[in-house]
Amino acid sequence: MEPRLTILVGTMTGTAQLVADELGDALNAHGVAARILPMDGLDAGVFAGGGAFLICTSTYGQGDVPDNAQKLYADLERTRPDLQTVVFGVFALGDRTYAQTFCFGGKRFDALLQSLGARRIGEVMLHDASAGTIPEEVAVAWIGPWIDQFRRARDRAA
Ligand SMILES: Cc1cc2nc3c(=O)[nH]c(=O)nc-3n(C[C@H](O)[C@H](O)[C@H](O)COP(=O)(O)O)c2cc1C
Repeated sequence: MEPRLTILVGTMTGTAQLVADELGDALNAHGVAARILPMDGLDAGVFAGGGAFLICTSTYGQGDVPDNAQKLYADLERTRPDLQTVVFGVFALGDRTYAQTFCFGGKRFDALLQSLGARRIGEVMLHDASAGTIPEEVAVAWIGPWIDQFRRARDRAA
């Protein structure tokens, strides 16, 4: 059976959604069945069955997760589920002009999920909106090697 993965999208103005769409297409092309879920209205139950996730989120306010991710983030903090059966990657969108809080949305999810026992695969990808690179293109270049790491981790666990 082909591996499955859920992309969770935290966004304010839609860039992370565009990135998630490209990541989903690339994953499917590599034989990983990906579904894309906006974080709106989700709670910690989305992780209940374990499995593989990509967190694709931007950063707002003073290094906060976007509005549509607040409920999920707060629910994870409050209920602190055991996520040892979860593996995940992070594509974080931010802007280095916010030097003190660069990509904190993705970094916050990374720290929280790891504190709950989830295992991160690969490095957190930090996209800088001030760098002039197209986030969807950066994402597609990043996901190939990430999938290799994902498959290796899965084979080791089998
Ligand atoms: C009001 C505002 C606050 C922001 N705050 C941060 C921040 O604290 N840290 C950061 O890295 N980026 C920050 N950003 C940049 C966004 O995260 C970045 O532009 C991102 O690509 C937007 O993605 P989205 O369209 O999916 O929301 C901020 C942008 C705006 C407009």
